[in-house]
Amino acid sequence: MNYQINKAVVVGAGTMGAALAAHLANAGVSVTLLDIVPKDAAAGNKAARNKIVTELWDRCLKAKPANLMGADLKTLISLGNLEDDFGAVAEADWIIEAIVENLKIKQSLMTRIDEVRKPACIVSTNTSGIPVKDIAAGRSKGFKQHFLGTHFFNPPRYLKLLEIIPTADTSKDVTEFISWFGEYRLGKGIVLCKDTPNFIGNRVAFGTGAFGMDFIMSNGYTVDEVDMITGPLVGNPRTATFRLIDLVGVDVWEHVGKNLAPLVQHDKLAVKYLEAEAPNKLIHSMVERNWLGNKTKVGFYKEVRTDDGKKEFYSLDLQTMEHVAPSKPRFDSVKAAKDLEGLGDRLKVMLEADDKAAKLVSALTLQSFQYASSIIPEVADTAKPIDDAMRWGFMREAGPFETWDMLGVRETVKKMKAAGYPAAKWVDAMLKSGVESFYQYKRSSPADKNGDKVSVYDVQVWRRVVLSIQAKQSCGQERRQGRGVRCLEREVCEDQTANGHGLPERFARDEEGHRGERGRFDVRYRRRRCAGGIPHQDERARRRHFQHHHRSARPRRKRF
Ligand SMILES: NC(=O)c1ccc[n+]([C@@H]2O[C@H](COP(=O)([O-])OP(=O)(O)OC[C@H]3O[C@@H](n4cnc5c(N)ncnc54)[C@H](O)[C@@H]3O)[C@@H](O)[C@H]2O)c1
Repeated sequence: MNYQINKAVVVGAGTMGAALAAHLANAGVSVTLLDIVPKDAAAGNKAARNKIVTELWDRCLKAKPANLMGADLKTLISLGNLEDDFGAVAEADWIIEAIVENLKIKQSLMTRIDEVRKPACIVSTNTSGIPVKDIAAGRSKGFKQHFLGTHFFNPPRYLKLLEIIPTADTSKDVTEFISWFGEYRLGKGIVLCKDTPNFIGNRVAFGTGAFGMDFIMSNGYTVDEVDMITGPLVGNPRTATFRLIDLVGVDVWEHVGKNLAPLVQHDKLAVKYLEAEAPNKLIHSMVERNWLGNKTKVGFYKEVRTDDGKKEFYSLDLQTMEHVAPSKPRFDSVKAAKDLEGLGDRLKVMLEADDKAAKLVSALTLQSFQYASSIIPEVADTAKPIDDAMRWGFMREAGPFETWDMLGVRETVKKMKAAGYPAAKWVDAMLKSGVESFYQYKRSSPADKNGDKVSVYDVQVWRRVVLSIQAKQSCGQERRQGRGVRCLEREVCEDQTANGHGLPERFARDEEGHRGERGRFDVRYRRRRCAGGIPHQDERARRRHFQHHHRSARPRRKRF
């Protein structure tokens, strides 16, 4: 089916909904932005009935940095409410739900949408943590085929990450189309996610962030120290740790953490820290005092006017719960590392040093590697989607696996073990098989330290699906790998046909011919497991190409 997005409806005009409507307008799409009618609004009083949406849209227009690319784009937005203007939903090509994070409320909205939507209308939810399939539960088959998660990051105009979460029922065409639209019309970096708790970006951020909060509090670090150490020095933006929580909202931080914990009871590494007493007590008491961060002007930092009228940011003393005058912490390790250009070089200096700053960097870095490796294959099948999500969603210089490569995987695995943060077993298996890095790099000269990434290690989670990691120049070289498993190494063909988006390719891929349900020859692709999430636009052409070049591929005899 061919999809087009000319008219969109965004339901929910809060922080995300209004900014999403603005960003769709930036892409030239006409948008109707809907919100609830205030309880006391009289029937027929249009202004009173649209009060919520109007106020929220005005707030969005005043926000800095600007959500719209130009003031004239306002004309593409119409405002309405969910009672009088629901007709817009029947006209829409894409409906994005961005209402309160409550399953029942989201489900009842979807019931209403299902009754009126056009057959080809795509519906998506911006939920940050509710399982996407649950939001579509009970809906019609056509609705489910056109329903998926589109998790934008705040603010959607500026943060590049768009996590796309298809369910088992979502049509492949819909996923591919929204991925294409998100990338080419909205300018996003697409990461295809499984429907697992908090998807990828927030799962990693909270699995590592909760550990960080516990470590910081147990070892007596101050807010000033932490933000000085965990900013650009270690590849994070200047918001570092506590300024980031103030920006996101201390209440949002608490809410996401609390929602995540019961959903990831199986994830021992995360749950231990998500449920840790001291950090939870601290965050909760801040929420009780309405110290929610930038939005209430008090959080981990508080703006204070000094006697001479100067603006200063006092930081929270985590022990006394008082805001104190800023300090300028100094550490020898930071002095030695901060002016080095490469992130890997700075981290190497920090990991070799032994002062208080070095200990924090060491713990946060090694635990982040441990955690990122532990959630493969649960949330992603390779390193790449995790790295993309952390770079695009949190503006980090590099994702955990890219950073780990910079430090040397083998040496770092030893350090991790010694420090009590052992890597997942598949990393050991990768090293044992002779692969020394998560990505393969093409270096223009021996002096070129980093090189261009050309492929990513395809994590072997099923023992019997065997891949060779040697990139072959020839197409379709067939290998028998025992017990009926065949592997075709065809890097060149795949590069030419499958990756029109210029994404890095993996080392090698397996292509297993087998008889499809109707007895015709079919080819199974595992490309998505590693290509970082952007499907090829014309899957059929790709299949034809493969069949043309690899007619010798015979059906696999045995299914595993
Ligand atoms: N804020 C973020 O940084 C962020 C980032 C990514 C995803 N999300 C997700 O986006 C969604 C919206 O989040 P937000 O931060 O914009 O929330 P918000 O609280 O700012 O806005 C929620 C909107 O829902 C409306 N609403 C309340 N009850 C409703 C009902 N019964 N029916 C319809 N609408 C109702 C409210 O009037 C409000 O405008 C949530 O699912 C959230 O998890 C938020």
